[in-house]
Amino acid sequence: MHMHVARQDGTGQRNLLDQLTLDQLRERRSVKWRAYPPDVLPLWVAEMDTSLAPPIREALIAAIERGDTGYAHPGRAVEAFAAFAESRFGWRVDPAAGAVMPDVLRGIVAGLEQVTAVGDGVIINPPVYYPFSSFIRFAGRRVVSSPLVERPDGRWVLDLDRLGDDLARSDVTAYLLCNPHNPTGTVFSENELLAIAELSARHGVRVIVDEIHAPMVFPETRFTPFLSLAERASAASSAFVLTAATKAWNLAGLVTGLLIAGPGATADLERVSKAARHGTGLLGVIATQAAFESGGPWLDTVMRDLDANRKLLGDLLARSLPEIRYVWPEATYLAWLDCRGLDLGEEPAEVFLRRGKVALNAGLMFGRQGKGHVRLNFATSPGILAEAVSRMAEARHA
Ligand SMILES: Cc1ncc(COP(=O)(O)O)c(C=O)c1O
Repeated sequence: MHMHVARQDGTGQRNLLDQLTLDQLRERRSVKWRAYPPDVLPLWVAEMDTSLAPPIREALIAAIERGDTGYAHPGRAVEAFAAFAESRFGWRVDPAAGAVMPDVLRGIVAGLEQVTAVGDGVIINPPVYYPFSSFIRFAGRRVVSSPLVERPDGRWVLDLDRLGDDLARSDVTAYLLCNPHNPTGTVFSENELLAIAELSARHGVRVIVDEIHAPMVFPETRFTPFLSLAERASAASSAFVLTAATKAWNLAGLVTGLLIAGPGATADLERVSKAARHGTGLLGVIATQAAFESGGPWLDTVMRDLDANRKLLGDLLARSLPEIRYVWPEATYLAWLDCRGLDLGEEPAEVFLRRGKVALNAGLMFGRQGKGHVRLNFATSPGILAEAVSRMAEARHA
């Protein structure tokens, strides 16, 4: 296996995605590394193959040394996020309008419980992060699909006409938006967000935005936090936003999310029950606070390394699988690959797993728009990425 692909940016700084060997990664007990047998390269679920950012590692080790494993106190996690949001996005968050939640998905459910009734329709934009549908159903609400559309250049965008029609439906009371969008990597522009807010206000639909990937927007793209539009758009003022440090700093196993209410939704936030808030772990809160307070430099470095992988993946595919269509994501480390040109059937992920021993996310999980697509997680070493693409190329011929 050719495991070493040299860095080419001349910085000489160590690649944060190339610190751990494959053998070390295989010792991990997380789902990414345990769900498949050891001959499979796992490039699926959204975990990164990095070590912990040093400030987070130190905060966690200090907590372990104190024996500090009692019930979670929210500490200054929301305040730390507010300072991060102001310095990164120029967005001022009132810490009193934020709450620590067990995780983002349960924060979404808590938000839906405040702004919708059982049986109401909730809009999502497939192909989209598949737990959205299951958690909407789990909350007793109904999924209303308003799909993104693929532009001729391969970028997935909102269909505002269709969205307007869907928001006008009498059974729809909420819109669950994912920005940055998983799996397509699209970051919606300020104008698109204003259009969403305008349409939602017109039809009395409440907006909940999942911004978990927002810390991971690549430098060429500007990210607009939905709540930063609150003074200009009433639907932004009445929105809920979910965020977390768990994607950008790879802390998913520590299970902590933040629910932030717009200025017009603070009364709804206060109604979120203790039961809905229950379940955060103290180590998650400690790690989240450390990430937002002191994890910025590490995040900048990992984004540099992810950017290199984003390009490397393009080069590797152009060389050995040119039939796959790949548009660089504007954020995060998930590549949404259109494999229809390979003629591997509706679910190419099955072929890549069976013949190539590479685990990817199956496109149809994200909605029927995902037919012939796979989602590939490139937050791994350049060597593993190169090996995975080489196995995928061989799988096509097998
Ligand atoms: C868009 C999106 N939302 C939520 C989550 C999961 O968040 P949590 O683990 O806090 O529920 C993910 C994880 O990949 C995600 O991509």
